[in-house]
Amino acid sequence: MRVAMRTAGLFLSLMLLSCAPVPPGPGDPSVDLHSYANAVDARVTHIDLDLEVDFDSRRLRGTCTLDIEGAGDSLVLDTRDLAIERVEVSSDGESYREAAFELGAADAILGAPLRILREGAAKVRIAYSTHERASGLQWLDPAQTAGGELPFLYSQSQAIHARSWIPLQDSPGVRVTYSARIRTPTGLRAVMSAEPADGEIGGREHRFHMPLPIPSYLIAIGVGDLAFRATGPRTGVYAEPSVVAAAAREFEDTEAMMQAAEALYGPYRWGRYDILVLPPAFPYGGMENPRLTFASPTVIAGDKSLVSLVAHELAHSWSGNLATNATWRDFWLNEGFTVYFEERIQEAVYGAERAAMDASLEIAELKSQMESMDERDQILHVDLSGRNPEEGVTGVPYVKGAMFLRTLEKAVGREVFDPFLRGYFEEFAFRSLTTARFAEYLESELLSGHRDATASISVQEWLESPGLPANRHEHVSEVLDVAAEAAAGWTGDGVPAEGLDTDSWTTQHWLRFLRSLPEPLGADRMALLDEAFGFTEAGNAEIRCEWLVLAVRDGYRPASEALESFLISVGRMKFLRPIYRQLASSESGLARAREIYSRARTGYHPVAAQMVDQILGEAD
Ligand code: BES
Ligand code: ZN
Repeated sequence: MRVAMRTAGLFLSLMLLSCAPVPPGPGDPSVDLHSYANAVDARVTHIDLDLEVDFDSRRLRGTCTLDIEGAGDSLVLDTRDLAIERVEVSSDGESYREAAFELGAADAILGAPLRILREGAAKVRIAYSTHERASGLQWLDPAQTAGGELPFLYSQSQAIHARSWIPLQDSPGVRVTYSARIRTPTGLRAVMSAEPADGEIGGREHRFHMPLPIPSYLIAIGVGDLAFRATGPRTGVYAEPSVVAAAAREFEDTEAMMQAAEALYGPYRWGRYDILVLPPAFPYGGMENPRLTFASPTVIAGDKSLVSLVAHELAHSWSGNLATNATWRDFWLNEGFTVYFEERIQEAVYGAERAAMDASLEIAELKSQMESMDERDQILHVDLSGRNPEEGVTGVPYVKGAMFLRTLEKAVGREVFDPFLRGYFEEFAFRSLTTARFAEYLESELLSGHRDATASISVQEWLESPGLPANRHEHVSEVLDVAAEAAAGWTGDGVPAEGLDTDSWTTQHWLRFLRSLPEPLGADRMALLDEAFGFTEAGNAEIRCEWLVLAVRDGYRPASEALESFLISVGRMKFLRPIYRQLASSESGLARAREIYSRARTGYHPVAAQMVDQILGEAD
């Protein structure tokens, strides 16, 4: 164990830090197993960042000043790969004195606890720098951006990566306000999940303030050659200059979505809602950072067919960002509510049919995913002890979670369910809650008043059992059946879907079509399909990904180049996962995957690289 020691006096006080923090153990489900922080004795309430963004060394460097409440003598923070230079404490925020600290041994999942002898001081200031491979940051070379001239940096803190760029209590059960002063090279703009404060626009210094208390996983930063375009009075997009016009067009319905959301579940509480379009390396489709959703450019399809992602991230402004999962076991409270809410927004803005189409595709995906999923992972209130919280990110919290809420909605009717949800968001606004707390609230505020209507719903089964309860409500959408039938019934003669008006098909039709084709198809039939519909050149990333998986499976060589360029340019895990998995399922495919990956890896986000390492058996 490394002990930082400046003076003999400090050494003595360090003895007080006697027992090394041990990773939190299982037991009480309200305990966050993924944080070392003991927020009962000392709780961080505000974080002030003062950081320099250094693209040359790929590090953030500076200080982080924490406001602490509580009487505890020591403060335990989460860190991962941080270089801690100095720790100081102050009771008045003006005069600081050096304090003893100890960085414990690093755990592969949790990182290292930072124990600080605070002796009741109200402020703790930490001078530190991040590691060049910080798990929560991605540093992009100019070549990985649309403009190709300037570098780019962005963070992705969820689930437990904030600790790799800020020493803090990295638990969704702890909320903080924050402020920041960020220094960047000239010519780059910094944005954060906060209000920009007045500063020299275009200068080197950028200031921010988030006055509402948020969990640590929502602290976010982006730095790059960013232009802005408004899409409404309180909405807009930030993107590289060559992308911003297409992004603004694609996301022009954002204000309509906000109004639909507010009409359903109450006022939007965060002021502005902007979208930051990141370079294609971004490992997710979207991330609900408050005031500033981060989005993958792969959702810009040109026809708004993938804007359900905006409905989703916007919905998190209530489910997740207001009412937050207390631990990562309760992740379904964030995502299940959000998928449900997303579909209600879609329905209000684009009609019930489109919402049902998306839902039916998702449910089909969930069922096929569950066939090969461990039973323990099919449980909403999933056990994540000893595991990385990212292992809990499957279709279960999302789609099974939403299905639970839909089942409740159908039982009591929207006239009852909508006010219930509205009340839920109000009750838990700016608070974090566990699954047990939700179950209690559900019982007292909904079920107890509607016993007959809800008699067949077993909350216990929904929350704690694998599989899908028999009395679930499932969307039926017949709209896509035409695509499924055309595909499944194709004999290989002629062109499938002949005589059908495929020009009017949506992305969702094509996905259903590709997922319903007989298998295997063989390279000849793949060629026929490609000739008829041009899948290899598809501009829509969802369709292209689906097609590339088939191309690998059926050894369709004309798609080889497209496969390679897709894997090298796109870092979104949703696409990388199925393609690499398909490649890894044969020996020659695995060799090819390793070869492509050896060139693609440096362009992937650390979490995406870790996932591909696992698929290709290269994990160390
Ligand atoms: N909050 C998630 C992304 C996330 C989850 C990041 C867990 C890290 C850990 C975000 O809201 C999300 O669900 N994104 C989805 C999009 C969506 C439309 C289902 C994605 O990225 O695919
Ligand atoms: Zn989400």
